[in-house]
Amino acid sequence: MPQARTVAVLVGSLRKDSVNRKTAEALAALTPDLKFNFVEIGDLPFFDQDLESDPPAQWVRLRQEIAAADAVLFVTPEYNRGLPAVLKNAIDVASRPYGQSKWNSKPGAVISVTAGSQGAMLANHQLRSSLVFLNVPTLQQPEAYISGALSLFDDKGGLIKDSTTEFLRAYGQAFSAHIERHLAEAPSAKA
Ligand SMILES: Cc1cc2nc3c(=O)[nH]c(=O)nc-3n(C[C@H](O)[C@H](O)[C@H](O)COP(=O)(O)O)c2cc1C
Repeated sequence: MPQARTVAVLVGSLRKDSVNRKTAEALAALTPDLKFNFVEIGDLPFFDQDLESDPPAQWVRLRQEIAAADAVLFVTPEYNRGLPAVLKNAIDVASRPYGQSKWNSKPGAVISVTAGSQGAMLANHQLRSSLVFLNVPTLQQPEAYISGALSLFDDKGGLIKDSTTEFLRAYGQAFSAHIERHLAEAPSAKA
């Protein structure tokens, strides 16, 4: 039996009860083909190029975790029609030092989740813009814009709606196929 592909998961909300985190956990439970490793991003010092001579231990850890993964998954809320700062900071940290970006050629996917009604679409696409520059081949379809997320989970974080469960199950299968397709073409992305 081949080893499951590993996915580094970055959640753009630090909130204990985050629906973004619950969505990522639900996807992980519905996608046994993949091994999801949740990456801590709340403790990263802000990116500052002056720190590169002696990088903070949290930066080193993040860079190692991204490098060791076969693929990356971003699950993000939208803050003021944009990407949460904590997630953008993590993206910047792992993109440096110049020429040593850990994102390069990692297959990826973006899910945006909001309590509101418009699927956090602007945050989703702002993130996708960075992924174009960072050469992250990103799953195109299905797109994942999840609205009204406060009513999707029970007290224990379980999904309530069958339609969301089926969507996430299909999404996990599509992401898994995307990873395999990409790694067949460019198997060297993992460090
Ligand atoms: C600072 C801030 C700005 C927000 N801006 C938006 C926004 O632009 N669009 C949106 O759909 N929701 C916005 N929200 C609401 C979030 O969708 C909501 O807080 C959601 O629950 C965040 O996900 P979480 O449960 O994973 O933290 C904002 C929330 C905060 C705290």
